[in-house]
Amino acid sequence: MSLFALICPVCKLPLQQADNRLGCEHNHSFDLARQGYWNLLLPQRKRSKEPGDSADMVQARQRFLQAGHYAPLAQAIVGLLQEHMPTDIPQRLLDLGCGEGWYTDQLQRQLSLSVAGLDISKPAVRAASRRNPDILWLVATGADIPLADESVDIASLIFGRLLPEPTARVLKPGGLLLVVYPGPAHLRALRSLIYEQVRDSSGFNPEQGLAERFDPVTTRQLAFEFRLDTHEAIQDLLAMTPHGQRLNSAARERIATCRELNEQADFRLALFRKR
Ligand SMILES: C[S@@+](CC[C@H](N)C(=O)[O-])C[C@H]1O[C@@H](n2cnc3c(N)ncnc32)[C@H](O)[C@@H]1O
Ligand SMILES: [Zn+2]
Repeated sequence: MSLFALICPVCKLPLQQADNRLGCEHNHSFDLARQGYWNLLLPQRKRSKEPGDSADMVQARQRFLQAGHYAPLAQAIVGLLQEHMPTDIPQRLLDLGCGEGWYTDQLQRQLSLSVAGLDISKPAVRAASRRNPDILWLVATGADIPLADESVDIASLIFGRLLPEPTARVLKPGGLLLVVYPGPAHLRALRSLIYEQVRDSSGFNPEQGLAERFDPVTTRQLAFEFRLDTHEAIQDLLAMTPHGQRLNSAARERIATCRELNEQADFRLALFRKR
């Protein structure tokens, strides 16, 4: 059993594992999926039949990330956490909105941490669980995390939706939260294929939403160029982003004929400490 203190999504009491089943004192029980993840998402917490990223989006992201285009980002994330995490006590890291687990896997392999990955998308977690059996994989919502209060040392949120309150609940006082999000110049080439006028994207900033419970530690910028040289790779990148859903017919045509793209990545890594 992992070091993580799982709680029952129904009644919030601790979950104990017996063989391939988790159960609470109230006899709510959850079976281990064949692929090795736990599904702790209650039907009433689903806003749609298949919430989160679809199987197609998961596969597109998996191909894109596997090709290594964002390897510098994974290294920067690992490096930043290495610099700031205490090393004296066993550390538990929760990757929120872990998707198909490309970053989660590297965090587990490169840092000596116990790692859990949580995502609301079943296809994403199914793919993730094939990647690394030493991670606790959970289908669950970040809005109602099935972990005990103050039981996590580090949380990461990589291109996910920030939910300050549930995230703060599971983190220990003094625990770290790493938020990774795109900077204004991110994917400018792709956006110029899609939109007539490319504006610098509005600039999401997590600081405001977190101010009540977190202190900022540091923010790092990471920018680099990468090249996509097949139509399929460009389609995969598009499928990973919200831009893919906003194509008009002219944009669709421009994308359809595009065979190569010199692209720019622009990321922000913002580290916070829970008060
Ligand atoms: C843009 S993807 C990022 C995935 C991964 N962190 C990465 O960068 O490769 C956002 C992920 O958040 C998940 N997601 C959306 N709403 C969620 C929620 N309420 N709780 C947990 N995960 C959620 C989606 O299923 C999707 O996998
Ligand atoms: Zn229960």
